[in-house]
Amino acid sequence: MTATSRRLVAVILAAGEGTRMRSAIPKVLHPVAGRPMLGHVILAAADAERLIVVVGPGRDDVAAYARSIRPDAIVCVQTERKGTAHAVLAAESAIADAAKAGIEDCIILFGDTPLIAAKTLASLRGALAAGLTIAALGFEARDPTGYGRILMDGDTLMAIREHKDATEAERAVTLCNAGLMAVDAQQALPLLKRVKNDNAQMEYYVTDLVALARSDGGKTGTVIADEAEVMGVNDRVQLAQAEAAMQSRLREKAMRDGATLIAPETVYFWADTIVGRDVMIEPHVVFGPNVSIADNVTIHAFSHIEGTSIGNAAQIGPFARLRPGSEIAARGKVGNFVETKNAKIGMGAKVNHLSYIGDASVGADANIGAGTITCNYDGFGKFRTEIGAGAFIGSNSSLIAPVTIADGAYVGSGSVITDNVPADALAVARSRQVTRDGWAKRFRASKGKDKA
Ligand code: UD1
Ligand code: MG
Repeated sequence: MTATSRRLVAVILAAGEGTRMRSAIPKVLHPVAGRPMLGHVILAAADAERLIVVVGPGRDDVAAYARSIRPDAIVCVQTERKGTAHAVLAAESAIADAAKAGIEDCIILFGDTPLIAAKTLASLRGALAAGLTIAALGFEARDPTGYGRILMDGDTLMAIREHKDATEAERAVTLCNAGLMAVDAQQALPLLKRVKNDNAQMEYYVTDLVALARSDGGKTGTVIADEAEVMGVNDRVQLAQAEAAMQSRLREKAMRDGATLIAPETVYFWADTIVGRDVMIEPHVVFGPNVSIADNVTIHAFSHIEGTSIGNAAQIGPFARLRPGSEIAARGKVGNFVETKNAKIGMGAKVNHLSYIGDASVGADANIGAGTITCNYDGFGKFRTEIGAGAFIGSNSSLIAPVTIADGAYVGSGSVITDNVPADALAVARSRQVTRDGWAKRFRASKGKDKA
C-alpha cells in the first residue's frame, strides 16, 4: 500500500495558552504572511480526510477560524491543560471514529508551527506505510535546550526524552523532537490511554508513545526536517522570525515561478498571492490577501495591493493602492497615487495619475485624466460610476455617482458631472472663463504698486 492510498486523520493541538505572546488574541490566530498560524497548519494537512483541532476552553474564536478554512473540521475542547497526550485524548471519540472507519494514518501536529510543509507530512506517512507504528519528526537543533531529545539506535527511534527528564548524556544529543508525529491510527488510542504522567512536569507526554509502541514490539523511526521548518512560535520575536522565514519562502516561490524581484527582501507577500510568469515586481511592494497577477505584469515600486486581480501585461504603480474588488484587465494601467476599490479597469484603459476610482467600471481603452475622482459616497450609501469603452475623462473631474459616462464620450477637464453623459457626447460642467484685458495692471495701480 502506498502512502497516497492510505487515509489520514490529523489532530492539531491548539489548546496552548500562549502567555508569552502577551495578547488578547489566541496564539494560533496570530498571522504569518497574513494568514493565522493555525491556517498554515490546517492547509499543510489538507490531505487529511478528517481534521481535528483541539482548542482550550472558551476558544470559540479558534474553533470558528478553523471551520472558516476547513468547514468539516472537528473541534474538541481540552478543558484542563495536562500535556500533549492529554490534549490528543481530548479528541478520543473523534479518533475512535476515524479508526473504526478504517483510517490508517494519524498525524499529530502543533498549531503554532506555521512553516510545516505538506511534503514533510507526506514523508512521515511514508514511514508508516513502510511499516512503522510511529514516525517522529526530528531536527538538528542549534541549541537543543528545552526540546525533547530523539534517542536513536541505528535507524530505530528508541525513545523521546523531554529535556527536564533527560540525563546529562541525553542532553548532549542535538537531534531534537519537532513535536509532530505520525502514528498508526489503529494503535493510537490504545497507546495514548497507557501514557502516564510520572515525569518531571507531571504531564501526559505524547512522546511517551514511542517507548510504549516499542514495548509492544512496534517499529519506530524518525524523519528529519530542517530546523527552520519546524520552528514553534511562543512569543512575538519568534513570530517575526517565522514571518521572515515564510516571506523568504514566498519570495523564492515567486521567483522560481518566473517573476523578477529586484529587491526580494523588500517585497511582502500574503500567503495566498498568485504570481504569473515574466512578472516584474519592483522594490517595496506589499500584498494583502487574495491577489492574483497574470503574466507579463509590471508592479512598480511602493505599491500596496489587496483583493485584486491583475490581467496580462498590466502596469501598476509606482505608489498605487489597489483595494479589494479591483480588477485590472489586460494591458490596463494604474499609475502613481491612484487608489482603486471595487472597480473594474477595462482592457487597455489608463488611470495614470492621482485618482480615486471606487465602485466603478471603466471600459476598454478609456482614459481617465489626472485627478479624476469618483464621488461614490454621500455619507450613507455607496453609488456606482460607469464609464464606457473609449471614454475620455478630462483631468480634475469629479464624477458624482450614480452616474454613467457612455462609450466614447468626453468630459471636459475640471467638470463636476452629476448627470449621465450619452455616447460620443461632450459634457463640460464648469463655469465659463472670463478674461478682462488689463485688469491686473489696473488693480496693481489702484494699490499704488505698479512697477510697470
Ligand atoms: C513538545 C514536545 C517536545 C518537543 C517540543 C517541540 C511533548 C511532551 N514534548 O514540548 O518533545 O521537542 O514540543 O517544540 O510533546 N498543548 C495542548 N495542550 C496541552 C499541552 C500542550 O494543546 O495540555 C499544545 C500546545 O499548545 C503546543 C503543543 O501542544 O502547540 C506543544 O506543547 P508545549 O507545551 O509547547 O510542549 P513543549 O514542552 O514545547
Ligand atoms: Mg513548545
